[in-house]
Amino acid sequence: MAFNYINKQLHCDGVDIQVVAENYGTPAYIYSEQILRRNAEVIKSIFIDKGFKVSYAMKANSNPAILRLFKSYGLGVDIVSAGEFKMAKHAGYLGAEINFAGVGKTSEELDLALAFDIDHFNVESGFELDLLEKRASLADKKAAVLLRLNPDIDPQTHPHISTGLKQNKFGMSPADVRHFLTHTKSYPHIQFDGIHCHIGSQIIQPQPFYDLIDYLQQFTTALRAEGVRIEHLDLGGGFGVNYHDPFEDILETTPFLQSIAERASEKLAGYQLHIQPGRVLVANAGVLLARVLGNKENGGHHFVIIDGATTELIRPALYDAYHAIYSHEEHRPKQMGDVVGPVCESSDALAKHRNMPVFESGDLMVIGSAGAYASSMASTYNMRPLAPEIMVGASGELQLVRKRQTFDELISLYS
Ligand code: LLP
Repeated sequence: MAFNYINKQLHCDGVDIQVVAENYGTPAYIYSEQILRRNAEVIKSIFIDKGFKVSYAMKANSNPAILRLFKSYGLGVDIVSAGEFKMAKHAGYLGAEINFAGVGKTSEELDLALAFDIDHFNVESGFELDLLEKRASLADKKAAVLLRLNPDIDPQTHPHISTGLKQNKFGMSPADVRHFLTHTKSYPHIQFDGIHCHIGSQIIQPQPFYDLIDYLQQFTTALRAEGVRIEHLDLGGGFGVNYHDPFEDILETTPFLQSIAERASEKLAGYQLHIQPGRVLVANAGVLLARVLGNKENGGHHFVIIDGATTELIRPALYDAYHAIYSHEEHRPKQMGDVVGPVCESSDALAKHRNMPVFESGDLMVIGSAGAYASSMASTYNMRPLAPEIMVGASGELQLVRKRQTFDELISLYS
């Protein structure tokens, strides 16, 4: 089970990646069903089997084949838009398995979710609470709500993916959360069930999670002493992975899952606990496969130009993120350079100043950790069609789980 070299050629679960390129072209995303299953099993045994409710944050990768697979392990789904709602429903999730997060939800989105009796809404502001009260009243429903608390904890990650600092747009101040939880009578169509937090993403130290658990323990103890009813606590997602060695097992890339579960169960005993992991379930189960178009030198700088681009993987451009680069053939000599795509932006780079294998025109390149926030953040900039997604099945069979967008499909959107 893995991405590894067999007879000096890179394989995914026993399938030579060249076979994927021959069948489906490049650029393309490749997912390993076996790694997805391994990740789901680990999350299930550490969290679900210990009583946590786990909702997969489907923004990381919303492919319905992946959604169905996670559902079979007992995971629910965390959605943030009507589109994600429709896709979760399409993949077979029931209302009771869906929670709706996000900093801004429209009336139409709230109505869709209310009509489907989703499990709960994570509400982030007073205006959203007022709107949900109104829509629930019109629908003659009572909406279960967790209030998203902004605990002002530094997740020690990239500023673009920090959400739990008080200057971030996410969540409500502790004072606001306390205010709403002590004025529940003003919201007859809302059932206040507890508190939700999500402090950031790609957190690779356990300490910010420990701080969050300690914070919640103090905050909820004080509120309960005032007679406030709190049943549910959601710690959010954010568990980071190793982008430098994406082919490691989940328990090596993210070794602190167990200790977070233990600490939360101990310090927050008596609450129904939730988590919403995204990246840790999918990032290292996928790669981006690209074809090398050529090499060039400019101003003493070496560039390898590939047919994949920031349109398929925007993370390096957006967050300066590191993604590992592999050649199809093992043991190539090394060379310093940048990996860039054909998109007309200087920021269109997938790796910069990287000591990487020497590539020739026509070679295949594999870019690691492309299972999360890659296809789900893709765009059609420069009229580039969305790339296909191929799952290498548990017995090594290839499944096209999203087809390549055609030029006709792209053009047909225009009147
Ligand atoms: N829950 C909430 C409320 C979230 O906002 C997020 C992610 C998650 C859960 C899942 O977080 P995860 O376990 O995947 O870290 N595009 C960025 C990541 C943005 C994350 C947004 N929120 C990236 O590529 O690094």
